[in-house]
Amino acid sequence: MKIKIVFYSMYGHTYRMAEAVAEGARQVEGAEVELLQVAELVPDSVLEESGAKKAREAFTHIPTAKPDDLADADAIIFGTPTRFGNMCAQMRNFLDQTGGLWAQGALVGKVGSAFTSTGTQHGGQETTLTSFHSTLLHQGMVVVGLPYSEARQMTIDEITGGSPYGATTIAGTDGSRMPSENELAMARFQGHHVADIAKRLAKQ
Ligand SMILES: Cc1cc2nc3c(=O)[nH]c(=O)nc-3n(C[C@H](O)[C@H](O)[C@H](O)COP(=O)(O)O)c2cc1C
Repeated sequence: MKIKIVFYSMYGHTYRMAEAVAEGARQVEGAEVELLQVAELVPDSVLEESGAKKAREAFTHIPTAKPDDLADADAIIFGTPTRFGNMCAQMRNFLDQTGGLWAQGALVGKVGSAFTSTGTQHGGQETTLTSFHSTLLHQGMVVVGLPYSEARQMTIDEITGGSPYGATTIAGTDGSRMPSENELAMARFQGHHVADIAKRLAKQ
């Protein structure tokens, strides 16, 4: 059973969440988990100026996803930072190259799920995830979120991400806040939950 985690990250927050999602998925027996990142679109000089080039060094070893990599997955979990309440352009660009897969119905019946990172607490985590789900549904995927049985999303005594639509983290406007233990635990739960559902579907 193949679980692929496809992410984009500019400063490492979404990558850190992707690692936690992978950790959770690997706990399900029989899960083969692969992390992939989508291609960068921002010019090198801009990345350099914003400090993103340095931050991205931490995950240059993660292979770049090709649309066809999705075809043999049982489940795909997508991670994207929020851009104006939506997924980032790098992820959109990748998904817009999956028209061939759509035409063949290649993703129909696979499990699809998404997680995100925002700068601010109410900066569009839910809109990013629910709008991401539209693409998954157009591809015929079985959309899975983060059920409330993961009770950490009800935490109110500390600042935390987490929603029934998927795991989330809050990076802070200067990016200085890395995912908290509460947020990483929810990301692990999502990975485990998706892999568990994929396993049950594979048995049908
Ligand atoms: C062009 C742009 C638009 C952004 N839009 C939002 C937004 O709508 N809401 C928000 O909370 N953060 C927004 N951010 C902040 C990013 O979501 C934040 O940098 C990101 O979650 C960090 O994740 P990463 O380290 O994986 O790149 C934006 C950042 C950029 C560069």
